[in-house]
Amino acid sequence: ISAQSNIMAEIKKLKKEKNAIILGHNYMEYGVQLVSDFTGDSYDLAVKAMKTDAKMIVFAGVYFMAEQAAALNPDKKVLSPDPNAGCSLSDSLDVETLKRYKSIYPDAPVVLYINTSIYTKALADYIVTSSTAVKVVSKLDAKNIIFGPDVNLANFVEQKTGKKLIKVPPNGRCIVHASYTKQLVTLARRKYPNALLMAHPESPIEILDAADFVGSTNQMIKFAKENPNKEFIVATELGMINALKIQVPEKVFYPLVTTEACGCARCPYMAMVTLEKIKRSLEEEVYEVKVPTDVAEKAKEAFERTMKILE
Ligand code: 13P
Ligand code: SF4
Repeated sequence: ISAQSNIMAEIKKLKKEKNAIILGHNYMEYGVQLVSDFTGDSYDLAVKAMKTDAKMIVFAGVYFMAEQAAALNPDKKVLSPDPNAGCSLSDSLDVETLKRYKSIYPDAPVVLYINTSIYTKALADYIVTSSTAVKVVSKLDAKNIIFGPDVNLANFVEQKTGKKLIKVPPNGRCIVHASYTKQLVTLARRKYPNALLMAHPESPIEILDAADFVGSTNQMIKFAKENPNKEFIVATELGMINALKIQVPEKVFYPLVTTEACGCARCPYMAMVTLEKIKRSLEEEVYEVKVPTDVAEKAKEAFERTMKILE
């Protein structure tokens, strides 16, 4: 048996012993997705965290995701295998900047992308994900709407809703998706003429305009399953190919950017979460994510208000 299957077997045993579940983001490495009880996009995983009976949740994703799960589940032990697994979007918006925008536009509802710290979320009215942003903003009846921190998602939401957003900060970007260029799309289309292009809304608008489908990681899985086409070019983080291979094994997927072509293909933060760290997380019950009660309550209110608007 390989070292990889040994560690996977140990993780499965530990999960049982500790009454724990693993929530794994669609960008996780192959083995991490296989040991996860649920895999999904950031919205789906946040909801799954609220619905589980398990007492312990190991969040195999970046830190803001574990923080969100901890805020929504104050009575559960939420563990982050590596709390240094950050996110360039989350890092781009701080509490002071958001407060300043709120004081300039006191009547504007604040819509924050889930890729933010829990302290900024506590100042938001709505918390959206790539799968819900368009729907939520389209339902808001306000002259001004503060939206952050992803400028590419904001541009996409503006295009879809016809509404103008106040972007906070003006230039928040994901280091992976922001590096995609129209030239890469042209090359991929030439190389794979029969493939459809699926793109994540964190990509620049010229990529989204050129795509056959734009959606969250879960929405891409659904599209690939249901569309009769056999081949797809995937304009999102490289780990997504693992999720697609596992869940849609009958189809063929080509990443828009490979690691050979660019160091930006794989999110360095997502890559920090490994099977070894997950095992240690379960064994030693580290690193517990703690959110101050008042902050958690405010963030939870914003999340629940958003779920209501989506009903
Ligand atoms: P999803 O919500 O589509 O899974 O995206 C999360 C993310 O971090 C994208 O880079
Ligand atoms: Fe953040 Fe981009 Fe990594 Fe997603 S892929 S976690 S948005 S840096």
